[in-house]
Amino acid sequence: MKNSKLTIVGGGSTYTLGILMSLIEESNQFPLSQIILYDTDESRQEKIGKASKILLKEHYSSLEKFDYTTNQAVAFKDADIIFVQIRTGGLLMREKDEQIPIKHGVVGQETCGPGGMAYGLRSISDMIQLVKDIRSINKDAWILNYTNPAAIVGLALDKAFPDDYKLLNICDMPIAIMKTYADILNEDIWNLDADYFGLNHFGWFTKIKNKTGHDYTSELKNYIRNNEFNPTDKLIANDPSWQSTFKQAKQMLEDFDEYLPNTYLQYYLYPNELSRKENINNTRARQVINGRERNVFEDCDTIIKQNNTNNIDISGDIHGIYMIRIAASLIYHLREKFIVMTRNNGIIPNLPKDALVEIPALIGKYGIEPLQVGEIPTFYKGLLENQYAYEKLVVEAYFENDYNKLLQALVLNRTVVDTNKAKGILKDLSDANREYWPQFLE
Ligand code: NAD
Ligand code: G6P
Ligand code: MN
Repeated sequence: MKNSKLTIVGGGSTYTLGILMSLIEESNQFPLSQIILYDTDESRQEKIGKASKILLKEHYSSLEKFDYTTNQAVAFKDADIIFVQIRTGGLLMREKDEQIPIKHGVVGQETCGPGGMAYGLRSISDMIQLVKDIRSINKDAWILNYTNPAAIVGLALDKAFPDDYKLLNICDMPIAIMKTYADILNEDIWNLDADYFGLNHFGWFTKIKNKTGHDYTSELKNYIRNNEFNPTDKLIANDPSWQSTFKQAKQMLEDFDEYLPNTYLQYYLYPNELSRKENINNTRARQVINGRERNVFEDCDTIIKQNNTNNIDISGDIHGIYMIRIAASLIYHLREKFIVMTRNNGIIPNLPKDALVEIPALIGKYGIEPLQVGEIPTFYKGLLENQYAYEKLVVEAYFENDYNKLLQALVLNRTVVDTNKAKGILKDLSDANREYWPQFLE
């Protein structure tokens, strides 16, 4: 089979260099002939593009073509596969998404709670337009979307493009948690076999085995109850915010010992404690602006100046490798098992059919072949139905320009609940987002 042509949309993202390093590390399993970076922000794209060119020249000798562009025709025309990682409004709007709820005593988070709702309403327009633009130029490329908040974006895309089986929504959190499991167990991560159910950033591992069938679930639970649970993937291992997030798993497991939780459940299960921990002047967005973003762009300056990557500390990470392994499984019809998002349709029979569930599936040339989960117990069903109702109302509010549905959504969200609080937050978020969702201005 011929080598593939890849385009990365959001080429100016803080994740691009890591993805390129991951592509280099995975080049035997997923060989490429072409990589094109595309972004709407010319200056971000140029900096990452110039550095990428040097990096690829050094480390990817079999690559025939590399380019970076703000031209969609150039970016989309020949691609076999398109990774998407855009951020409408940038990190400065993320900071507002996080600060406004905190002002009202509510968790301020990129994808959970009111911040996620605000980000979702911004992302949906751009993502629908982007998929239309891609499909007007290229009908066949696989589109692998990382853009957040993936739960809401994915649901909106499912509504807008219900038959496009070549459009997949993916999250790196389950695999990042599995990376820690693998390191605890001294197993190769790709030798682990996970059973999982939920919505994006709202789910549980029900079983962790290895591929020869050894069940590690109890061992992992015991480990987490009795030891420090830390992130181990390079991208997040040394980040204090991620370290404190992983630590919360112990509390969750002590309180609810049935399944192994996704780290994002902390915001829904302990909203008061979590909101008290937040610092409005140093939310996660600010940490990323002063950390990952600054480091990536400084690295680019250095690479461009010295015209090589000597002494630059970049490597592949599970975020990139996950996307690449899924891409390889699609293109080579490997039917390997990955946790992805897909329309429920009875996979979990006691949840709504149209929910976008996150579950294990086989990935091959027909796209996603979901594996049956079965009915789930009442506690989880209740939490998920509530969260799905919130997500669905946000998406309906977007398509119907219905402010009242946004209010209903926030009242349902476990991080908010109180109607007066919800009204205040919604008003402030609408003001802050007038450029992005003017339809909701009263
Ligand atoms: P970032 O702001 O550094 O990068 C996003 C890039 O997208 C920017 O260069 C921006 O100019 C570009 N962009 C914005 N709108 C665009 C459009 N319409 N078309 C093309 N390019 C556009 O953000 P980041 O922190 O690197 O994150 C990128 C995205 O990936 C975010 O949505 C983030 O939430 C998401 N993400 C998702 C997961 C997951 O688990 N699904 C994991 C990590 C990051
Ligand atoms: C995880 C999640 C992503 C999220 C990211 C935020 O990878 O799966 O959905 O975007 O964390 O990380 P950050 O370091 O930007 O807070
Ligand atoms: Mn995610």
